[in-house]
Amino acid sequence: MAVPFVEDWDLVQTLGEGAYGEVQLAVNRKTEEAVAVKIVDMKRAADCPENIKKEICINKMLNHTNIVKFYGHRKEGTIQYLFLEYCRGGELFDRIEPDVGMPEQEAQKFFQQLIAGVEYLHGLGITHRDIKPENLLLDDRDQLKISDFGLATVFRHNGRERLLNKMCGTLPYVAPELIKLRVFHAEPVDIWSCGIVLTAMLAGELPWDQPNDACQEYCDWKESKHYLNPWKKIDSTPLALLCNLLTENPNSRMTVPDIKKDRWFTKPLKKGLKRHRVCSGGATETSEVFSKHIRSDADKSLLLHSDEKTKYSSTQPEPRTALLTWDSNASNIDSLVQGKGYSFSQPACPENMLLSSQLLGTPGASQNPWHRLVKRMTRFFTNVDAESTYNNLKDTCEKMGYVWRKGCANQVTLSTLDRRNNKLIFKVNLVEMEERILLDFRLSKGDGLEFKRHFLKIKKKLEDIVAVQKVIVSIT
Ligand code: ADE
Repeated sequence: MAVPFVEDWDLVQTLGEGAYGEVQLAVNRKTEEAVAVKIVDMKRAADCPENIKKEICINKMLNHTNIVKFYGHRKEGTIQYLFLEYCRGGELFDRIEPDVGMPEQEAQKFFQQLIAGVEYLHGLGITHRDIKPENLLLDDRDQLKISDFGLATVFRHNGRERLLNKMCGTLPYVAPELIKLRVFHAEPVDIWSCGIVLTAMLAGELPWDQPNDACQEYCDWKESKHYLNPWKKIDSTPLALLCNLLTENPNSRMTVPDIKKDRWFTKPLKKGLKRHRVCSGGATETSEVFSKHIRSDADKSLLLHSDEKTKYSSTQPEPRTALLTWDSNASNIDSLVQGKGYSFSQPACPENMLLSSQLLGTPGASQNPWHRLVKRMTRFFTNVDAESTYNNLKDTCEKMGYVWRKGCANQVTLSTLDRRNNKLIFKVNLVEMEERILLDFRLSKGDGLEFKRHFLKIKKKLEDIVAVQKVIVSIT
């Protein structure tokens, strides 16, 4: 595929997919700058050109540490390309262990950053309307970034507030008034979804399918049955905050200024001592943390393998065959971006360069790529060859009742219904790396926490072929 606007940018990895299209990681072959490119085909839906225009317009208004930076956009035929800050830490979602959550001090830090981003947006009169862990990304220093303004809208202009009436968002995260009322205020709806995110961070599960009286779990919450899950896993101080965030009446719900004064929000939480331990096991499901440099390196090499079917050794210059051949002479972010007002005389995010010399000397850089692989939670290596991996995976998944569909290259799509009877679709990539096979699972549609539960079940069933490796992990 030739894209006529720039050379030297390789689309090396799919970062995300959605109804809109997809987000790819683009890496500059010369400078190693990395940007996320949201690719939207405006032919997909009649209202797409209008929606994407709005998304671009809103993105242009934003500049805050806790919001994904927008570099610019460019239109090629019916395709719109949006160039965005690449968040190399991945989704917040990947830090949540199903049914457990994450350490309270980590949840507090992310929640504070989320509220800082939301406060900024609301100050500008913008509401996100789809706050959920999948839309909260992390940079290489674990700074939270609110992402995807595809559903965002302006609710206040020239000091005048406009009530909203459009139902949008993701059901487990939407506020009750959005389901019940014809019109509602924008800000409390975002605040509610922040409360659901906090619940997911502290308990590793979502409290209900949707907040209405047809949902038993929601009725139990309203009756203050805090002895039930997920609430019983949560300490009384953050639970008190959740009671005030997940308040049915939007007029009594906490506002951002209230949250900033909350006891748990402001509580100094002692950070646990960093200890190191050696543990065995493949990509385990515990909250193990690796160097972020290592993470991106591993992620990149994975992609080069899966898509190019070439071999990559850490001691060799990596085979960077352009997945796209771009045939102008431009080579930095400037050249990706159309229109005025975007100038990048400096690399947009030098700290995000991949495979930089900084890697040398970091722990693990001397190890081979599969040792260096960071534990994204939903991948593991096998101890058998590609054919055997494929056959084992297929037999196991079919026995477990998944619908199995072979996709292109080394990818399969699995679909099922989750425990709440909602559709769950995910993809598995078989990636060859250092003569080993990595199974990399990615959610396509459905609840992310359910996806992880399914991943863990499949991994358990495949335990005979899951590679065991000794890894150094840091525990906080
Ligand atoms: N997935 C979707 N958008 C992304 C971004 N900006 N950075 C990293 N991963 C993403």
